[in-house]
Amino acid sequence: MEQLVSSQFDFDKVTNRHHTHALKWDKYSEDIIPLWVADMDFESPPVIIEALHERISHGIFGYTRPSADWAQVVVDYYETQHNWKIQPEWVVWVPGVVASLNLACLSLSADKDTVLTPDVIYPAFHNSPRQSHKTAHKLPMTYAQKRLRVDLERLPEAPAEVAKLMLFCNPQNPGGCVYSRQELEQIDAYCQAHNLVLVSDEIHADLILEADKKHIPYGQVSDYAEQNCVVLGAASKTFNLAGLACSWAVIPNAGLREKFINAKQGIVSEINPLGFEATMTALSKAQDWRHELLIYLRANRDYLAQEFATIKGIEMLPMESTYLAWIDVSALNLEDPPAFFEAAGVGMSPGAGFNDQRFMRLNFGCQRALLEEAIRRIRKVL
Ligand SMILES: Cc1ncc(COP(=O)(O)O)c(C=O)c1O
Repeated sequence: MEQLVSSQFDFDKVTNRHHTHALKWDKYSEDIIPLWVADMDFESPPVIIEALHERISHGIFGYTRPSADWAQVVVDYYETQHNWKIQPEWVVWVPGVVASLNLACLSLSADKDTVLTPDVIYPAFHNSPRQSHKTAHKLPMTYAQKRLRVDLERLPEAPAEVAKLMLFCNPQNPGGCVYSRQELEQIDAYCQAHNLVLVSDEIHADLILEADKKHIPYGQVSDYAEQNCVVLGAASKTFNLAGLACSWAVIPNAGLREKFINAKQGIVSEINPLGFEATMTALSKAQDWRHELLIYLRANRDYLAQEFATIKGIEMLPMESTYLAWIDVSALNLEDPPAFFEAAGVGMSPGAGFNDQRFMRLNFGCQRALLEEAIRRIRKVL
C-alpha cells in the first residue's frame, strides 16, 4: 500500500484561494465548499514556481516565439511517458484544449457536416460542433462494468457516411474511464472503415489512478490513426496550471496540420511566456511531484469511495483516472440535485452539464480535510 502523506511535497497544505479571482472559489459564498470546476487546490510543483520567478525577474513579457527545443520537450514527453514517437514539427501550440476542439471542428470538416461526439461528455464537446455550424451526432454511451464510455457495439448506428470527424476524450471526462488498447483499436477500425479523422482530447492522460491501467495516445494505435488524428494535450490539469493557458495539438498529417494552423491565424492568440515556462518545466522536471500527487489523489478517491459506499442513495463510479468523481444521486429522487447539495454547503458540477442529470461530478483534487468536511455536510442532510 502506498503512503498517504508524501515525503517531499505537502499536499495537505492549505492555501487560501478566496478573493484571488479563482473561478472555483469565487463562485460561491464562503459557506459552500467548492468541489466543481477541474482545477486543484494544491500549489504547483516548487520547481515550476521557481522557474516562473526566474522568468518574471527578467521583467519583460513581450510576444513569445516558441522554439524548436520546446517542441522537442513534448516529443521527449510522449516518448518517455507514453511510448509514442512523434516529430517536433507535428506539435502545434494553442492556448487551450477547448480552443483546439473548436479549431478542429472549424477546419477539418465542411459547413453542415456531421461531427460525431460522445453523448455524456465535457460540455465543450457539445458546443464545438455547434459553434462552427456543424451538426453534432451524439454517440451512445454505456455504463457496462460501471465504466462510462462510448458504446462500441453501437458505433454502427452513427451516420458515419455524412461525418468526417469524430471527437473523443481519453481519459473520459466525466467518469475517468481509461480506454484499453483493444477498445481504441475498435474505434480505429470504425474510423478506418468510414475515413474519419479523430480528435482525441487527452488532457487527463497523466492522471491515471489505477496501477493496471495505462494511457495510450490515440495516434499510437495504428498507422491510420497516426495519419488521421489530432491529439490534444497539456500540462494544465496534472500540474495545476490551467490559468496559464498553454496546450498543444499533435497533428502528424501535414495536410490536416496546415488546415488547423490556417484556421488558427488571427483568431487564436499566441501563448504567453509564463505559460510556456511552466509547461516546459512541468514536462521535463516535475515528474516526482506528479508521482506523489497521484498517491494523494488515489487516497482521496479511496476515501470517497469508502464513504459513499455507506451513504444510502449515492453511488460513486470506480475511478480509473482524474480527480473528478462521477456520482449517481438519482436514487435520492431530488428535484434539483445541485441546489440540494449547495444548500448543504457542497458545490459540485451538475451532471446535466455533461448530459446525464442523474449524476453530479465531485472534484477531489483538494486537501483531505476539506473532503472530510464535505462528506460530513452531505451525511448531515441525508
Ligand atoms: C476533457 C477536458 N478538455 C478540456 C478542458 C479544458 O481545457 P483548456 O482549459 O485547456 O481549454 C477540460 C477542463 O476541465 C477537460 O476536462
